[in-house]
Amino acid sequence: MKKGQTSIALSCWRLDKGGRTAVFASFESGTPCLVHFGATLPAQEDLSLLAQLTLPNTAGGQLDPLTPLSLMPSAIEGWQGHPGLSLLGAEGQSATPDLTLAEAVEEDASLTYKLSDRLDRVSLTLAIHLDDTGLLSLTTHATPKADSRISWLCAGAVPVPDRLSRILDHGGRWTGEFQQQERLFATGQYARESREGRTGHAHFPGATFLAIDCGETSGECLGVSLAWSGGHRMIAEEIPDGRRQVQFGVADDGVSDQPISSPTVYLAWSNDGLNGLSEAFHSLGRRFSRTKLAGRTVPRPVHYNCWEAIYFRHSPEELKQIASHAAELGAERFVLDDGWFKGRNDDTTSLGDWNIDKNKFPDGLTPLIDHVQSLGMRFGIWFEPEMVNLDSDLARAHPDWLQGPGGQPAGRQQHVLDLSKSEVCDHLFDQISAILSEHAIDYIKWDHNRVLTGGMPGQTVALYRLLNRLDAAFPDVEIESCASGGGRIDFGILNHTTRVWLSDSNDALERLRMQHEASRWIAPEIQGSHVGPRTCHTSGRVLPMAFRAWVAAQRHMGFEMDPRELTDDEALTLKRVTAWFKANRDFLFSARHHRLDTRDAEVHAEMFASAGDDGDDRFVLFHGQAGASKQIATRPYQLAGLRSETFYDIRLVNPEDLPRTLNQNVSSPFSKGESVRLSGAALMAGALRLPNAFPATMLVVEGQSVRSGVQP
Ligand code: DGJ
Repeated sequence: MKKGQTSIALSCWRLDKGGRTAVFASFESGTPCLVHFGATLPAQEDLSLLAQLTLPNTAGGQLDPLTPLSLMPSAIEGWQGHPGLSLLGAEGQSATPDLTLAEAVEEDASLTYKLSDRLDRVSLTLAIHLDDTGLLSLTTHATPKADSRISWLCAGAVPVPDRLSRILDHGGRWTGEFQQQERLFATGQYARESREGRTGHAHFPGATFLAIDCGETSGECLGVSLAWSGGHRMIAEEIPDGRRQVQFGVADDGVSDQPISSPTVYLAWSNDGLNGLSEAFHSLGRRFSRTKLAGRTVPRPVHYNCWEAIYFRHSPEELKQIASHAAELGAERFVLDDGWFKGRNDDTTSLGDWNIDKNKFPDGLTPLIDHVQSLGMRFGIWFEPEMVNLDSDLARAHPDWLQGPGGQPAGRQQHVLDLSKSEVCDHLFDQISAILSEHAIDYIKWDHNRVLTGGMPGQTVALYRLLNRLDAAFPDVEIESCASGGGRIDFGILNHTTRVWLSDSNDALERLRMQHEASRWIAPEIQGSHVGPRTCHTSGRVLPMAFRAWVAAQRHMGFEMDPRELTDDEALTLKRVTAWFKANRDFLFSARHHRLDTRDAEVHAEMFASAGDDGDDRFVLFHGQAGASKQIATRPYQLAGLRSETFYDIRLVNPEDLPRTLNQNVSSPFSKGESVRLSGAALMAGALRLPNAFPATMLVVEGQSVRSGVQP
């Protein structure tokens, strides 16, 4: 656009769905921009005016053109920030794309834009969709032409409104996933990058942009996440005129002269706090699980996983004994972890040789599976298909199948198979298929225990293809995503899996925080959570069984200790909580999940609440007391998701976990374990004072709406 220009040629489009409006505009037939995403706008809204108002007037020291922030911003338009697409010419020189809108197709709640380059070096297709949960998705497909190559392609540059100045995202590490971090936008770039070829413990590919006053239950925020399980890059940027953008794309050290597609980036907007974003992202993660688990009578069976009980020491007799104990405690699926295949006695050997170890299982796995099934449990098994030990028949037979270049460092004594070779994937498919076809197995824990050395997008694409192939061949087999715990959790892998192993830490204190944080993105039932050994293997902590069990019962519950270590008391407690989980899981995992603002760093509180059309409303409140609070008494906080006019009968499910020392003089009948009746309005105004709790205690509260006609 020229200096001093007053009239601008504009085309506008709007999508309305899921309580959200998205408006796009193309200035002077340039690449369209996202000019509004959020609250539903009236039908009469002047979209052209909205679009024009996104352009700041130019001042001294700037280029003359008014430069919109388009979905694929480019320097040739005058954009001074990070470009959406980086092109290289035949000689490796930078070639700025000069894009123009060739075609726009609108259909239902979708838009497809075709863009061409004025010098014909690239063509792009942008696919946009707004779904009925209010999630907006953007995906870009790029075809380089005439010797051009692509070195960066974002899924679509997203403007971040000025008022959303806080950036919340997650760092993390092995056994310490989903650590929240926060900063404010400032001039320049804030970049996040995973170069591990997998999502990474430290790099969940998502970020939230919040208003200063936004909390869990109120305020405005925008969540953005890339559905991709490989190396990725995020750039959140404020340019000198104050405008802000966020771009997500694949991290790749190479350049592509072939057509490439960006993974999809998903956007959610909420004016009801962070829980509003979580609601939309939970529905995204649930899509695959819902289809996969449809028709199952018990979609989330209680797991028993033998890893921390026996590690590599597999003996059928001992495993049968453990299985019997686990079933007695309430387990419904037995997962045989690492150690069952030929020669796998420690982690230095045998990855790649997916044949049953005849020394450990002379009669194969069938007698163990029969035993497990006779106890009423299903059977699952561990694989780490993408990996190989040098000490394996596979590596000896096919040294050329290892990921190159040579001299790759080992990680956990293992190397990576090059999945971009079709013969490698065929081999893996055959090996896994043989085990699945010959046994009654309906579950795979799919592990990935080392980082790669670079973004390696081809590996991720091939993995998705292999998972699709297995899904087609074994539609009843579920897959859990594990990567040394939570190293591969994202909306790409959730298109193929029904559960994530959140962390290798079974320390309930750490889990309490982690699973609470992870719930910003990942639906509670998708997160696996196990009751580990009495002395935690990754922290050395010893925590009470009640706490360990309730923390696991907040998510997809499981056990991972040697059940023979349990005292009678511990076994009774675990059975009681497991029975509660089984009786309530259908409710929990169909209810809406809310994190609560407790204003107490030691308390992680969350609610599962349903508001049925028939007035039969319920809620479960989990008050997780991690450490000792600064103040003596539990601070009352506001509940969420209730109907103001409805009265609820409320009771503490576990009064036996209250310490007398901290509750010597008790004021309310509620603290004495009696049921009390309060309105949703009072509860959401912060009326409920919970009893005082010891560190490492979970208080569990159930609320049931009083049926209409019953007076309080
Ligand atoms: C890492 C996983 O996270 C553990 O749960 C276990 O499966 C081991 N790998 C097995 O090697």
